[in-house]
Amino acid sequence: MMNDTLKTIFNRRSVRTFKPEQIENQALDSIVSAGQYAPSGMNHQPWHFTVVQNRELLADINTLCKAVYMQWDNPALQERVKAENFSAFYHAPTLIVVSGDATSLTPQFDCALALGTMFLAAASLGIGSCWIHALQSFHDLAEGPAMMKKLQVPEGYRIFGSGAFGYSAQELPLPKPRKEGAVTILR
Ligand SMILES: Cc1cc2nc3c(=O)[nH]c(=O)nc-3n(C[C@H](O)[C@H](O)[C@H](O)COP(=O)(O)O)c2cc1C
Repeated sequence: MMNDTLKTIFNRRSVRTFKPEQIENQALDSIVSAGQYAPSGMNHQPWHFTVVQNRELLADINTLCKAVYMQWDNPALQERVKAENFSAFYHAPTLIVVSGDATSLTPQFDCALALGTMFLAAASLGIGSCWIHALQSFHDLAEGPAMMKKLQVPEGYRIFGSGAFGYSAQELPLPKPRKEGAVTILR
């Protein structure tokens, strides 16, 4: 079976080259609303969405992402990070940071579903996206709390993920083959 929703799901790919132009406010509203309509454990909706489009703040976030990557034991990544124009979120014009109430029931899952839902909403509107993971390590950095304050992450919340959004400047690649044997059907 096939319909427009399924086509969006199958055709969405992570985008890692973005055009500099900003996405329309109406599209942003729809994407963030879609995230808020994701399922959540016992409907706690324990999330907060911080949309960052300010260039200086994006640059500051990138600086902290670099610090996170430099802490990881990955020499190849550390080499890439040193490049002058390195951007952890591929110079996307919009970054949506999803934080969750750490005392809630299932915040990590809820925030991941919110991000996944926003990626699909974006794809349905012709907007590219990519999960950017480094931000969830901000709380391990000395500068982390100050940045989370700047991002207006609510007290007691932690960052579970973020998404880069913008118009794709790349041909979308075909999906990698799906792993075999990943499905068991018991009838
Ligand atoms: C939890 C999670 C973390 C990810 N972190 C990153 C990341 O930090 N940077 C990045 O470029 N892609 C990241 N990705 C994107 C994956 O690499 C991508 O989804 C995967 O390769 C499949 O490709 P597709 O999204 O095009 O289908 C992440 C995806 C998930 C689900």
